[in-house]
Amino acid sequence: MKHVLCPGSFDPITFGHLDIIERASTLFDRVTIAVLVNKTKKSLFTVEERMEMISEVTRQYPNVTVDSWSGLLVDYCKANGVDAIVKGLRAVTDFDYELQMSQINLQLQGIETLFMSTAPAHSFLSSSLVKEIASHGGDVSSYIPAPLLGRLSKRLAE
Ligand code: PNS
Repeated sequence: MKHVLCPGSFDPITFGHLDIIERASTLFDRVTIAVLVNKTKKSLFTVEERMEMISEVTRQYPNVTVDSWSGLLVDYCKANGVDAIVKGLRAVTDFDYELQMSQINLQLQGIETLFMSTAPAHSFLSSSLVKEIASHGGDVSSYIPAPLLGRLSKRLAE
């Protein structure tokens, strides 16, 4: 039984994240989405809110669950029997950082990272861009699931 972890900030989850999660769910027995507390990033939504939104938009995948973690990713993997980390690569701009992280995680605890190429339709997409567009009143309905649109505009208006 292969258990993989899709980690990230997910502030909020986008169609780009969902594409990777959905594809991973067809390749592996179990997928855990881990909402990581990234102290260097100021988040719009709390970890609990992000987990709630992810649960809402992934409930159709029976082998996908959501969790959160505030420590090292590799410690979560060891404690929870995770076989590998799965990450999406959008473009070469992601590569340096992702390669560095994957090498550190391999060295720290022997945890492998598998990269999936992002679908071309989502290659430009990021949670930060979605927040920026929405904060200026732009339409983000092509970028995040419909149930999250109201939550995002409400939070940005606060
Ligand atoms: O969605 P993001 O913000 O690009 O995700 C980055 C994330 C949360 C996956 C990364 O920052 C992370 O793994 N943080 C946990 C701490 C850790 O294990 N860092 C790597 C070794 S220094």
